[in-house]
Amino acid sequence: MGQVMTQRKTTIKDVIAALDLAPHVEGGYFRRTYQADHRDMLQSANGTRYLMTSIYYLLTEQSPVGQFHFNQSDILHYLHLGDAIEYSLIRADGSLQTLVMGSDVLAGQHLQLHVPGGIWKASRLLDGSSGFGLISEAVSPGFDFADMEMGNRQKLTAQFPQHRTLIEKLTREDD
Ligand code: GUN
Repeated sequence: MGQVMTQRKTTIKDVIAALDLAPHVEGGYFRRTYQADHRDMLQSANGTRYLMTSIYYLLTEQSPVGQFHFNQSDILHYLHLGDAIEYSLIRADGSLQTLVMGSDVLAGQHLQLHVPGGIWKASRLLDGSSGFGLISEAVSPGFDFADMEMGNRQKLTAQFPQHRTLIEKLTREDD
């Protein structure tokens, strides 16, 4: 392996260690950094939730895809470091929106991304010099696995046949 690749791998490991990140079920790595412990809990349709939670979320060249999943909550994404990340959003009406979080704002890349609840979302690290992309998410009502559904490939392709190729790329075969 080239020296640049070895150095990149070391840096990615160091970022994961420095931020104390763990593997996420969607792919990538994360750590919850905040939950609104000091505020009253919310009564959502699905149960009691924090008013807001937040995580770091990291994609790497070894784990470059956040698989399609659905969330009931609104999620604000903030870009921090590294390479650009492509987001694919499928709304209930089947419309697809693709956009890129990245630092090249002059090229139309986004530093912030707002994804309202009720949308299927996947993310994919784009090629770049870092080999990783780091964002944060602020989730309100606060994240709960009961509000989240991982995308099942068969079910999603049946619901959105026009997006089959994309869905096959951004779901696991066995999901
Ligand atoms: N995605 C967004 N927020 C969270 C969180 O707090 N935990 C997990 N596991 N996934 C998330």
